[in-house]
Amino acid sequence: MKTPRKRVLVTGGAGFLGSHLCERLLKDGHDVLAVDNYFTGRRDNILHLLDAPRFEIVRHDVTFPLYVEVDEIYNLACPASPVHYQFDPVQTTKVSVVGAINMLGLAKRVKAKVLQASTSEVYGDPTVHPQTEDYRGSVNIIGPRACYDEGKRCAETLFFDYRRQHKLGIKVVRIFNTYGPRMHPNDGRVVSNFIVQALQGQDITIFGDGLQTRAFCYVDDMIDGFIRMMATGDEITGPINLGNPTEMPMLRLAERILSLTGSKSRIVHRPLPMDDPVQRCPDIAKARAVLGWEPNVPLDDGLTRTIAYFDQLLREKPAP
Ligand SMILES: NC(=O)c1ccc[n+]([C@@H]2O[C@H](COP(=O)([O-])OP(=O)(O)OC[C@H]3O[C@@H](n4cnc5c(N)ncnc54)[C@H](O)[C@@H]3O)[C@@H](O)[C@H]2O)c1
Repeated sequence: MKTPRKRVLVTGGAGFLGSHLCERLLKDGHDVLAVDNYFTGRRDNILHLLDAPRFEIVRHDVTFPLYVEVDEIYNLACPASPVHYQFDPVQTTKVSVVGAINMLGLAKRVKAKVLQASTSEVYGDPTVHPQTEDYRGSVNIIGPRACYDEGKRCAETLFFDYRRQHKLGIKVVRIFNTYGPRMHPNDGRVVSNFIVQALQGQDITIFGDGLQTRAFCYVDDMIDGFIRMMATGDEITGPINLGNPTEMPMLRLAERILSLTGSKSRIVHRPLPMDDPVQRCPDIAKARAVLGWEPNVPLDDGLTRTIAYFDQLLREKPAP
């Protein structure tokens, strides 16, 4: 079904998820304005879009107000991996909170729908498995991950207050681990880490015993979830979990990557970082019921595409 052409703002548009979202929105026939301060995003991620007549990118920090005319806003701007968000934790909270206020203010002024890229980290180190949206979470308020977790929690609060106070059309999705091409090669996220280590023949580092589980969603599936969520009527606000409910221990992920890359790397174990969740898995019953959404890309297919991307990247720019 063809959707009417819209002017869509994507904050964090040069990042991993943002660049895929811009691509999809352009493919769907929309005008896309990406904004990014390039903290973790890269021009390389959107280089192939720069010639598209309906694409525009502006260097802008979302902690400052933005005045543009748009119909929809996807608010993705925020460093997403612990190495990056812990680099300047005060700024991380600021990006989440002040960034949300600025985007909500913009949405209010121009009467746009606004979607917040929230996170499974709002559940902290969960005591409920799998995590349903009504679980309120278990975050260490003063721990090293709190700048991100609490920043994102406060952003959700702001979204719902703007809804109650100003009747804004809000959408909140809680994103669980997502992987795919254009992930940052050095951001310490497990899929990219393992792939880069395997391709370079380095030891694969597993934190802890490797029995802790995660569930990985391929980027195309995640972007499809965003688009479906944005397309819902005003009564649908979320929060809605988006992620792959198939859990797997880190040790098994490492073994799959070794097998798919044909690498001879060894698996080595390192101590678990502070507040690292032991288990993380979405309950996606709500996404299935409300959005008719569930992930479709099998792990091996997604890993194969991601490995091909990193292989190419490392050939062009060998990692230090
Ligand atoms: N990838 C995942 O598994 C995952 C999981 C949960 C939540 N999320 C959320 O999705 C969003 C996108 O994550 P990603 O994986 O693409 O990460 P990413 O780091 O690749 O993208 C974030 C983008 O935001 C930009 N940015 C950071 N601070 C900014 C600022 N002050 N002003 C403007 N731009 C700024 C960065 O330069 C980058 O391009 C984030 O909000 C993240 O919290 C991602």
